[in-house]
Amino acid sequence: MGDLQRFDRFADFLVKEFPTAQRIWDIAGGMGKLNEALTARGRQALTFDVRPKHLPVPFAERLLMPDEPCTADLLVGLHPDGATRVIVEYAAQHRLPFAVIPCCSDNSMPYKPWVRHIGEIAREAGFAVTEADLPIQGRKRVVMGRFV
Ligand SMILES: C[S@@+](CC[C@H](N)C(=O)[O-])C[C@H]1O[C@@H](n2cnc3c(N)ncnc32)[C@H](O)[C@@H]1O
Repeated sequence: MGDLQRFDRFADFLVKEFPTAQRIWDIAGGMGKLNEALTARGRQALTFDVRPKHLPVPFAERLLMPDEPCTADLLVGLHPDGATRVIVEYAAQHRLPFAVIPCCSDNSMPYKPWVRHIGEIAREAGFAVTEADLPIQGRKRVVMGRFV
């Protein structure tokens, strides 16, 4: 069980770091709890995940694919597992900012090298990359990318 505070803490963080982003895509959002927290803070959130069982929030019950029409201002992922790289690639394709809190890798890489790798992928795609730690238990490192 992850830290149940993670949804509110990440939503607070996102609103502060990306104050102009209104339409936020929450990729690999599980049940949609981050969506709820963002909605409570006045953002329009859309969650992508393959889980059929979820909260009554705007929810795209599918994987995010490169051909998904883009209507987002910001892409985010909280412990998005196999979708972490997908988030960075889709954000690069559409020149959108992103913020991810990596958890498990998609290639068996251990946690710290995986976090570094995500930052490297983003830099290679042209993002200015910054990092921060959320005040939560467990995997808390946030990797953010912006085009400057
Ligand atoms: C560890 S859970 C985290 C869920 C939620 N963000 C949270 O913090 O509770 C990882 C989620 O990633 C989803 N997932 C993995 N790859 C995905 C992809 N390519 N597109 C969308 N969802 C994906 C899984 O279905 C799962 O719900």
